[in-house]
Amino acid sequence: EFKPLVFSGIQPTGNLHLGNYLGAIRKFVALQAENNDCIYCVVDLHALTAQLVHDDMPTQIRSITAAFLASGIDPVKSIVFNQSAVPQHAELAWIFNCVARIGWMERMTQFKDKTGGKNAEQVSLGLLAYPSLMAADILVYRATHVPVGEDQKQHLELARDIAQKFNIDFGAHIRKAGLGTDVLVGDEPVHAYFPMVEPLIGGPAPRVMSLKDGTKKMSKSDPSDLSRINLTDDADAIARKIRKAKTDPDALPLEVAGLAGRPEAGNLVGIYAALSDTTREKVLEQFGGQQFSAFKPALVDLAVSVLSPIGEEMRRLLDAPDHIDAVLRDGGARAREIAEKTMQDVRDIIGF
Ligand code: ADP
Ligand code: NA
Repeated sequence: EFKPLVFSGIQPTGNLHLGNYLGAIRKFVALQAENNDCIYCVVDLHALTAQLVHDDMPTQIRSITAAFLASGIDPVKSIVFNQSAVPQHAELAWIFNCVARIGWMERMTQFKDKTGGKNAEQVSLGLLAYPSLMAADILVYRATHVPVGEDQKQHLELARDIAQKFNIDFGAHIRKAGLGTDVLVGDEPVHAYFPMVEPLIGGPAPRVMSLKDGTKKMSKSDPSDLSRINLTDDADAIARKIRKAKTDPDALPLEVAGLAGRPEAGNLVGIYAALSDTTREKVLEQFGGQQFSAFKPALVDLAVSVLSPIGEEMRRLLDAPDHIDAVLRDGGARAREIAEKTMQDVRDIIGF
């Protein structure tokens, strides 16, 4: 059996927002608090897939690292590092490029969304292969659990498909090398080297939506700054954005079922629940029947109380980045040790 191990990553591109925080980082902290072994990565290689040249890459890498630390990730307990510091990710990704099928990649909705209307001459091969590198990020540690937002669900299913095809295609070699373990995949016994990763997506806000349009996800790439709350926004900005957030004219419903067909209301209630570690049911027990004019100020207070200390601590850390750089160096060394052990096995299995 595989020992539980948590892995996740965030790209060093643009400001982190409330979606990244509730969909990912807050869960990273909770999983660490439950005493899991956790590995959290700034996935800088992924940042090249959409745009090759980044003039501010070191600043962006430090900024994500600062967000991890400021949110409560302890770099002694957990491993915090950047992807390019561990070349084994790219080495395993190449093997996985040869395991995975082009059709699997072409079916990814995120690939289709990002390339819709573009000529293939304008799209990097890296963008197509992105999920293969993501599978390598996870499996080079043989991680078993991956906390992510809902938008990553399909990529994690693909990581499972890659792991499964590797395990089956190399089954005899895995045994011959004396590696792997007997596991059940569904009810089929398989001798596996790589585990089937479990996505950890649940919670009241697995997909935080734009504050301007409840049908679009909150995103770094939305041109409207009012659509998202950034982790570095000050109290005034947070208050202004929530006050201006799109809502409908009705009072909050008494029960969750009443949020159906009300995406903006559902989004704000989900955000409130996630920020206070409770459920949407509990939030509606408190606020059901009240107008947004009463709910929004409570949400502002809650968001400011959770996010301002994080923003402040990020600024403090980024002012003197030596600590961040030391964390990344130490995390990189610890990550390389685990990743190299896996790659030695993988090279044995393949016969290199
Ligand atoms: P982005 O999607 O903003 O470009 P990343 O791709 O680096 O950022 O995603 C980092 C993490 O944040 C992933 O786990 C992703 O699922 C999560 N995430 C991003 N946007 C949202 C959102 N609107 N709601 C919930 N989780 C999100
Ligand atoms: Na994303």
